[in-house]
Amino acid sequence: MSTFKNEGFIHIDDLDQHALDAHRPTIGERNRVDYRAVAKDVGRIGEGKKYLIRTHGCQMNEHDTEIMSGMLEEMGYQPTAVLEDADFVLYNTCAVRENAEDKVFGHIGTLKPMKAKNPNLMIGLCGCMAQEEVVRQKIQEKHPHVDIVFGTHNVHMLPELLEQAHHTKETIFEVWDKSDATIENLPKLRKDKIRAWVNIQYGCNKFCTYCIVPFTRGAERSRLPEDILAELRDLAAEGYKEVTLLGQNVNDYGIDLGNVDFGDLLEMAAKVEGLERIRFTTSNPWNFTDKMIDTIAKYDNIPSHIHLPAQSGSSAVLRRMKRGYTREEYLELVNRIKTKIPDVTLTTDIIVGFPGETEEQFQETLSLMEEVRYDGAYMFIYSPRAGTPATRLPDDVTDEAKKDRLKRLNEVQDRISLEINKSLEGKVLRVLVESESKNNPDVLQTRTDSNKIVHVRASKDLIGQFVNVRVTEAKTWTLNGELVSEEVPAV
Ligand code: SAH
Ligand code: SF4
Ligand code: F3S
Repeated sequence: MSTFKNEGFIHIDDLDQHALDAHRPTIGERNRVDYRAVAKDVGRIGEGKKYLIRTHGCQMNEHDTEIMSGMLEEMGYQPTAVLEDADFVLYNTCAVRENAEDKVFGHIGTLKPMKAKNPNLMIGLCGCMAQEEVVRQKIQEKHPHVDIVFGTHNVHMLPELLEQAHHTKETIFEVWDKSDATIENLPKLRKDKIRAWVNIQYGCNKFCTYCIVPFTRGAERSRLPEDILAELRDLAAEGYKEVTLLGQNVNDYGIDLGNVDFGDLLEMAAKVEGLERIRFTTSNPWNFTDKMIDTIAKYDNIPSHIHLPAQSGSSAVLRRMKRGYTREEYLELVNRIKTKIPDVTLTTDIIVGFPGETEEQFQETLSLMEEVRYDGAYMFIYSPRAGTPATRLPDDVTDEAKKDRLKRLNEVQDRISLEINKSLEGKVLRVLVESESKNNPDVLQTRTDSNKIVHVRASKDLIGQFVNVRVTEAKTWTLNGELVSEEVPAV
C-alpha cells in the first residue's frame, strides 16, 4: 500500500506525469483467475448464523455485495435485516466523499457495546475505504472491535478471512494495494430477478485530480468478452430483462486486451437473445467513439440514455480537474450524440466548489446545464480526499459559497427536469415493471428507456413485464402514469 503525502502546494501543471505516474499502476498481463481455484473452501462454517451487509457507494459496490452474499450463503450463512440478529456485520464502504466515510465510522462505533455483550459477533469492513491507509490506522487505534478488514482486490478471500477471525482476537488486515487480475466464476446472489449488474471492467486509469477511485480500485482491467457474454446469456436464460454493464470508465473497455473495444462489446451484448435492455455506466466524455454512438442508435435494446458526467462547465476548472476535455469539446460531443440519437436523454455529475472555482466559472456550469438540458444530474460539493492531487491546491471556496452554488445548481436542474417531464404528459411510453413502489405497495414502480421512474396503479402480476403507460402527471424526479393497451408509436 502506498502512502499518499501532501507535500505542500505545487502548481497543477506540475502535477502532470511525474507526480501521477508514481502512483499509476502499469497495466500488467491480464491475469484471469478462477474463484474456485483460489478461494479456500472453508466448508459450512456459517451454518445456523446470520449476516448483514451494509452497502455504501456505487453500483460496483452493490454488485460486490451480491458476490459476497453468494460466498456467505455457500458457507451456510442466512441473511437478516435486523442488526441485533446478525452474527456477522460487514460494511462495504465508499471513499469518494468524506461524509460517506464519517457515517461508516459512526455506525461501527455503535457496534462496540454489542460486541462487548456478544464476543462471537464478527464485524468486517471492506470496499474502497479499506484501501486507505488513514482508515486502517483509525480502525487500529479507535475501533479494535472490528475483526476483519479487506480491500477491493481480494474480495474472494472473505471465506478464509472469516475462518481465521474465529481463531484470533486481533483485527485481521488483509488489503492488497493493487491487482492485475480479473476473477471469474464468483458466486453471486442477485437481489433483483429482473435487472442485473454485470462487471465488464475494474479500476480506473484516469486520475481526475479530485478522485480517489484510481487509488482504491487500481488500474483498469477488462474482463474477457467471452466471459461477459456467457454471463449475459445465462442472465437471459434465467429471465432477466435488463442488464447494466459496469465500469468506472467503460469507454476504455478492452484497451488492455487489444483486440476489442467498448463499441464491439455493446454490439455483441445487443445481439444476446432475450435481453431487452442493455444499459452501461459510466461512459465518460473522452473516447466516446462514433462506433459507440452508432451502436446505441442502431439497436432497439440499447436505451437512448447516456450518463455523461461533465463535472464542470468551465474549461479552466476542467483543466485543473484534469478531465481531458474543454467545455467546447464536451458540447461538441453532446451535439454529435444528439444529431445521431435524436431521442437521447442525458444525465450528468457535477462538482461545485472545486479549488479555485470563481463565481464566473460556476456560472459557466449553470449555463452548461441550460445549454445541454440534462434530464437529471447528481450534484456534489467538492470533498478533498487525502492523497489526491487536488488537495495540493488551496481549497479557497468558502463553505457558504459551496452550499449556495449547490442550491442554485439544484434549482436550475429541478426546473429543467420538470420542464422536460411536463413535455411527456399525455405521451405513451414503454416501461419495464420493476417492483412495488417503495413508499406505496398499491402502486407499481416502472422505468422508461430513458431511465425515468413512472408510478402506475396496476396488477402486481405485471412485475417483470414491459407494458405501455400514458404519462398522467409529471413531477421533478418521477412521473405518474396509467396502463394503456395501445402500441407505442415508433420513434
Ligand atoms: N467514473 C465515474 C465516476 C465515479 S465517482 C466518472 O468518471 O464519471 C462518481 C461521482 O462522484 C463523480 O462523477 C464525481 O462527480 C463525484 N466525485 C468524485 N470525487 C469527488 C470528490 N472528491 N468530491 C466530490 N465529488 C466527487
Ligand atoms: Fe474518478 Fe475520473 Fe476515474 Fe471517474 S474517470 S473514477 S472521476 S478518476
Ligand atoms: Fe465509492 Fe469506491 Fe464506488 S469510492 S463510488 S464505492 S468505486
